[in-house]
Order: sequence, then structure tokens, then C-alpha cells
Amino acid sequence: MAHQYHPLGFEGSRIAQGYWRLAEWGMNDQELLSFIEQSITAGITTVDHADIYGDYQCESLFGRALALKPSLRDKLQIITKCGIKLPSKNRPEITSHRYDQSVQHILQSVDNSLQNLKVDHIELLLLHRPSPLMDADHIAEAFEHLHTIGKVRHFGVSNFNAQQFDLLQSRLEMPLLVNQVELSPLELKHFEDGTLEHAQQHAVTPMAWSPFAGGDMFRLEGINPTLFKALTEVSEAHNASLDQIALAWLMRHPSGIAPVIGSGSIERVLSAQQAQSIELSDDQWFAIWVASKGHPVP
Ligand SMILES: NC(=O)c1ccc[n+]([C@@H]2O[C@H](COP(=O)([O-])OP(=O)(O)OC[C@H]3O[C@@H](n4cnc5c(N)ncnc54)[C@H](OP(=O)(O)O)[C@@H]3O)[C@@H](O)[C@H]2O)c1
Repeated sequence: MAHQYHPLGFEGSRIAQGYWRLAEWGMNDQELLSFIEQSITAGITTVDHADIYGDYQCESLFGRALALKPSLRDKLQIITKCGIKLPSKNRPEITSHRYDQSVQHILQSVDNSLQNLKVDHIELLLLHRPSPLMDADHIAEAFEHLHTIGKVRHFGVSNFNAQQFDLLQSRLEMPLLVNQVELSPLELKHFEDGTLEHAQQHAVTPMAWSPFAGGDMFRLEGINPTLFKALTEVSEAHNASLDQIALAWLMRHPSGIAPVIGSGSIERVLSAQQAQSIELSDDQWFAIWVASKGHPVP
């Protein structure tokens, strides 16, 4: 790619595989192992988890599959998240749905994740959401401790605005490497609220969650026919699929967006990986922008 990309500070792949929906895929351990292996072979080596995914089950499902072939561990860069508490039959001690960014919760959450994933460290820990009660000193204390004892190599955040990011960064010696936010041709908010400019200024990698708007992009004809037409025209010009164009559109942005895809279909994952070779012209980029905005640029 000709455009600037900060490679996540730990040589992660440009496109990451998200495992939020893993519990819905209905794969047994062997099938999941095969999915992970094929993704790695294709070059998608960064995997995105969170403690709460799948009602706290996704990390364990992944860990069980990985344990069938432990040599794969060193080929992966594992991201997980913490900071949300979700009442669940799998966590009977949690009684309310809220944020918890206390030192104790962060440390306990990482221990649970390591145990579930069956690994001794993770490459990147993200604070899942900003909290109105965020105490940057407490978070920094937890992060520094996890780094010192080697359980977490790098840190970042998710769904943070620039001020929240700067506050936490101001208490840390280590650079926060990532801000994972929702970005897609259907979700333009963070293109315009300073998040991506802030990321560029501070060499932070913006990771794009739900790059296909959680699947709405494939129902676009009914949701936003104008955007569907624009994406279709660009797809035809590149002999590519809609999802490839959506990813190429994100990766064309100068902040070096790293998409996190969420498909459980290996064919779709392999197709997504090919999007890295598609270069959109500025005309094509703006055709999609204008169609999504619903009006010409001012
Ligand atoms: N940090 C955060 O707050 C946050 C929030 C949400 C998500 N995430 C991360 O982002 C990842 C991706 O999110 P997402 O799953 O919403 O991403 P997405 O890629 O926007 O949507 C995935 C959905 O689209 C469907 N899909 C993909 N390609 C398709 C195609 N060609 N035709 C029809 N349907 C298609 C998938 O179904 P199939 O499986 O059938 O392909 C799946 O249901 C998550 O796994 C998670 O790791 C982070």
C-alpha cells in the first residue's frame, strides 16, 4: 500500500480477524483450528477478542482450538479487551451491566483471558470503552504492572475520543498503540470527529470494527440504495466484491486504518485479505463518501 500504515507496533497483520461472533459459528475445535490455520496461511495473523464476547465464552473456544496445535501461538498476535462487566450465567458474581476499570478488575480480567486463551501473554490489551468514571491513574497502574510482569506486551483503547485518549496517555510511559473504533462506508462519524486526525498526529493505529456495519452492507440495496449503487460501480470497475471495496476504501485513508473483519466464513476471510491489493482512485473514494453522506461535498 502506498498509504501510511503504522504496523500496530507489534508486526500485526493489516487486517485482523475478529472473534466476537465465534460462538455463533457452530464450529467444533478441529474446524476452528482449521479456520485459524487457513487465516494465518493467508496472512491474517492478528486476532481480536474481548473477555465478554459470546457471553464470556469466545476466548475459551479459541483457546481450546489453539491447544490442539500450540505451535500456532507464536504466529499470532492476540488482542483482547477488558473494562465492561456483563451479567451472565457464566459470571454469576457480576450483578450489574456497567464499566469497571479498577486495577483489580483489569488484572483479574487479564488473568481470566490468559487462562481461557491458554496462553501466557497477549500482544495487545485494549480498554473496551471509555467510562464516565475513568480514573486514568488506576488504569495506568494496572497497565504498567501487566507490562512489567510480562502478561501484556502492548496497550491501547477502543471507542475513545481524542481527549479520553490523551488523558490516559498522559499517565503512561508506554505509548498507547491503537484506538479501535467503528468505521465503515455506513459509519462515518469518526472520520469527522477528530479521532482519525488525532490518530495520525500521534502515530496511533485506528482499527476499524464492524467494517461491513455488522453485515448491513450486504442488505444495502434496501437500506441505502445510493450507497449500494456507488459501491457496486466501484466494485465493477475493480472486478472486486462489495466487501473488498469497503475494506480498500477504509485502507485508503491516510491514518492507516486496520480493519477488523468478523466473518466466520473462510472464503470471505480470504477474499477480504485480497482487498489490500486494491487501490481506489480519489474519484472512487469520494463517490462512496458522497453517496454515504447523501449530499455532495460542500
Ligand atoms: N471494540 C469494539 O467495541 C468492537 C465492537 C464490535 C466489534 N468489534 C470487533 O470487530 C469485529 C468485526 O465486527 P463485525 O463482526 O460486526 O464485522 P463485520 O465484518 O462488519 O460484520 C460481520 C458480519 O457480516 C457478515 N458478512 C461478512 N461478509 C459477508 C458477505 N460477503 N455477505 C454476507 N454477509 C457477510 C458476517 O456473516 P458470516 O459470518 O456469515 O460471513 C457477519 O455476520 C468483531 O469480531 C470484534 O472483534 C469490536
